[in-house]
Amino acid sequence: MKYFLDSSDINEVEYAFSAFGIDGVTTNPRQLAVLGKKERVVVRELGEWAARKGFTGSQDFPISIEVDPNLAGWEEICREAREIVRQGPCFVVKIPCTEQGLIAARRLEEEGIRTNITLVFSRSQALAAARLGAKFVSPFVGWKENFGEDTAGYLQDIVETYRNYRYDTEIIVAAVRSGKVLADAARMGADIVTCSLEVMKNSVYHPFTDYGLRFFTEAWNAVEAME
Ligand code: E4P
Repeated sequence: MKYFLDSSDINEVEYAFSAFGIDGVTTNPRQLAVLGKKERVVVRELGEWAARKGFTGSQDFPISIEVDPNLAGWEEICREAREIVRQGPCFVVKIPCTEQGLIAARRLEEEGIRTNITLVFSRSQALAAARLGAKFVSPFVGWKENFGEDTAGYLQDIVETYRNYRYDTEIIVAAVRSGKVLADAARMGADIVTCSLEVMKNSVYHPFTDYGLRFFTEAWNAVEAME
């Protein structure tokens, strides 16, 4: 399973690339607001970073950039998408799962522009994204769990549905809040998980590892101190 970093922060991207070998990046407007950076600035930073790393296309290292959520019609979504991908070969356009968004995504995929259908909360939305040939679909897990919904069955159903019809669309499990959800996604056969750097770090941490390390260090040092 591939790991994408869910972040618009170039320092986090660099760290996650060297520490966790991330396979791609996803961004969203909330992250821009937290960073206090406009999308065009983040697009430039990420595009330059990808070029420095030698990535030549979204097949090497996809970076999802979300279209302006104010855009409601497919034509304006397509216009903005073309503008985003013009700024670098690694960019994939994140489009909300609305009727107009899906129309835009189908047209963009026909033009060779890769899309990521986002804000997906149901199996039928995920099915629609795959039928029209989107490169990625992003079912959100954390948001549903906040409202007490089951997400294990939801994800499993999407994975199985895609297998039934051999859809090429890759499933990005999104809004992942814990190492448990990350591991569950892998067991179900999801293609990708996208999560924050904090979740990525927590997923490789266990307090017993620290405990064991202290225990073994004491034992080692005790032996070394012997005559
Ligand atoms: C994924 O592509 C989304 O950007 C992300 O997972 C949204 O969820 P969050 O911001 O609530 O974590």
